[in-house]
Amino acid sequence: MLQDVAVHPADTPTPDPLDPSAMRAQYRAEGLTEAELAPSPYDQFARWFKEAATSGLHEPNAMVVSTADAAGRPSSRTVLLKRFDEHGFVFFTNYGSRKGRDLAQNPYVSLLFPWHPLARQVIVTGTAARIGRDETAAYFRTRPHGSQLGAWASDQSTPVASRAELERAYDDLAARYPEGEQVPAPPHWGGVRVVAQTVEFWQGRENRLHDRLRYEREGAGEGWSVVRLAP
Ligand SMILES: Cc1cc2nc3c(=O)[nH]c(=O)nc-3n(C[C@H](O)[C@H](O)[C@H](O)COP(=O)(O)O)c2cc1C
Repeated sequence: MLQDVAVHPADTPTPDPLDPSAMRAQYRAEGLTEAELAPSPYDQFARWFKEAATSGLHEPNAMVVSTADAAGRPSSRTVLLKRFDEHGFVFFTNYGSRKGRDLAQNPYVSLLFPWHPLARQVIVTGTAARIGRDETAAYFRTRPHGSQLGAWASDQSTPVASRAELERAYDDLAARYPEGEQVPAPPHWGGVRVVAQTVEFWQGRENRLHDRLRYEREGAGEGWSVVRLAP
């Protein structure tokens, strides 16, 4: 566990609490060693994910997804991880959104889990591909009715004239598909699976001597090597 420690000497004026240059937490967390790592990054992720979820941290499945377009221009946004296993990390989105268009041109992607209250982050790099329609449809059926309609109503990442227009689109759909009626998964919406090439586990430590252990996929196979990176 980490503790926030004030690190300004007693004889200096108290720093402005809103000045970002004066904001620093001293991490007192236990370290992460090579010996305790799971053989696969997915298993190691499962351990940390469980700890993040049971710690009470808000939305441990929220992650920052970074994509780049064909010209290499990057963009980032938060999305929710919906499943993970040895095949990859899956999130759901609109395939016509900016991220969806980026990934259609350039499948290289980065995921970042910012578990600040635990002084941890996990950074995945890899390649993204759409999941099968059956898998998308199965997940879509588990979503609340309102979220199902929302997926249809929103042409994600395109300009909308007004809030009223968006709500009108939703209301029209709600009239067509009342509560209890099955809503089909929109063809432009679905899952994206990120197959990891590298997975870095970052644990904050005292004096900025953090632990950074990165799994790297060995060749095209299933094996992984681990490298320690300087903090
Ligand atoms: C906590 C949180 C969770 C989100 N989860 C998702 C999600 O699972 N899928 C999604 O498409 N957008 C999600 N969003 C919205 C995205 O951040 C983003 O606004 C949207 O996907 C459009 O991004 P784009 O224009 O870069 O493609 C979430 C936002 C927040 C803050």
